[in-house]
Amino acid sequence: MTTTTVAMRRASLLLLLLSSSMSVILQLAAAGADGQDAAALLAFKAAAVGGYGVLASWNASAGPCSWEGVRCNRHQRVVALSLPSHGLSGTLSPALGNLSSLRTLNMSSNGLHGDIPASLGRLRRLGTLDLSFNTFSGELTDNLTSCTSLQYLVLGSNILTGRIPADLGDTLTRLQWLGLGNNSFTGFVPASLGNLTSLQVLDLRMNMLEGTLPQELGSNMPQVRSLDICGNNLQGALPSSLYNLSSLKNFDVGNNNFHGRIPADIGEKFPQLQLLSL
Ligand SMILES: *[C@@H]1O[C@H](CO)[C@@H](O)[C@H](O)[C@H]1NC(C)=O
Ligand SMILES: *[C@@H]1O[C@H](CO)[C@@H](O)[C@H](O)[C@H]1NC(C)=O
Ligand SMILES: *[C@@H]1O[C@H](CO)[C@@H](O)[C@H](O)[C@H]1NC(C)=O
Ligand SMILES: *[C@@H]1O[C@H](CO)[C@@H](O)[C@H](O)[C@H]1NC(C)=O
Ligand SMILES: *[C@@H]1O[C@H](CO)[C@@H](O)[C@H](O)[C@H]1NC(C)=O
Ligand SMILES: *[C@@H]1O[C@H](CO)[C@@H](O)[C@H](O)[C@H]1NC(C)=O
Ligand SMILES: *[C@@H]1O[C@H](CO)[C@@H](O)[C@H](O)[C@H]1NC(C)=O
Repeated sequence: MTTTTVAMRRASLLLLLLSSSMSVILQLAAAGADGQDAAALLAFKAAAVGGYGVLASWNASAGPCSWEGVRCNRHQRVVALSLPSHGLSGTLSPALGNLSSLRTLNMSSNGLHGDIPASLGRLRRLGTLDLSFNTFSGELTDNLTSCTSLQYLVLGSNILTGRIPADLGDTLTRLQWLGLGNNSFTGFVPASLGNLTSLQVLDLRMNMLEGTLPQELGSNMPQVRSLDICGNNLQGALPSSLYNLSSLKNFDVGNNNFHGRIPADIGEKFPQLQLLSL
């Protein structure tokens, strides 16, 4: 063999190596600004173990925008990551905070545990965050109140502790659904919740909330159809502002320590009522 052919073979081998790694890099770069989205997804994959093999399809044979559970916009940025009921059992990677175009994150009904990462507070476009039916623990990070586009904040049926951020109702002003039920939240129901004028569902059931309900709750919430605060340690009289919730269908305030009278004309105040539990 002449030196030239050896050199040529080496060169072509090098080219081959280069081109195959280039294609991976190009595919990764295809998703998101300089591959930042792909890197975040790979960090998510590494932390969220399990998944009945769904994450095995997250490989370089196709770009991240075609991975199961991932949806991109026309700029190849990741806008949705949805893997509900996929048997994931690890933790939620803080790298998700880098998916700056993300609008939907739905990981409901998995076995994910650990903290809800504070980095999610960087997702200014996030409209839907559903982490319900997992075993997330720790306190609700104040950073979530930076997700000012949130419409659906659904964190029910975890083991979250601590207080509900006091300013939640003044920062997440677009909320339609606030689901914090079946956790271990303590402290008061923040008065700011009364400022959630687009709210339709308020689920705080089965926590350890205490004190009286704020006088603000209900007077400026015309769209609320479900109010479920049963199974807490709430006390005092139900504020009369509640009787302004004229769209209410489901009203459950049972298993608390409320006292006082229910107005005799409650049927007139809640003309659409289907479920009443006191
Ligand atoms: C890579 O993903 C594709 C589907 O996107 C799948 O058919 C293939 O089996 C995966 N490869 C590995 C090694 O898991
Ligand atoms: C987010 O992206 C930046 C820049 O690519 C990187 O330095 C950082 O480590 C990423 N953050 C996380 C939590 O992965
Ligand atoms: C999350 O996904 C589940 C399963 O598809 C769905 O039932 C639920 O409505 C989704 N959550 C939100 C807030 O859309
Ligand atoms: C929490 O939010 C603040 C303000 O938006 C931000 O500077 C900080 O980086 C966030 N924390 C994390 C861990 O991303
Ligand atoms: C409460 O949450 C736990 C943990 O996610 C779940 O197993 C249980 O089914 C939930 N109970 C109700 C009544 O939603
Ligand atoms: C509700 O919003 C108004 C107007 O922004 C504000 O003045 C008030 O302090 C808020 N109430 C609570 C309890 O946060
Ligand atoms: C109920 O709503 C009416 C009209 O919006 C308002 O004048 C009244 O103050 C409200 N009552 C309570 C108790 O908030």
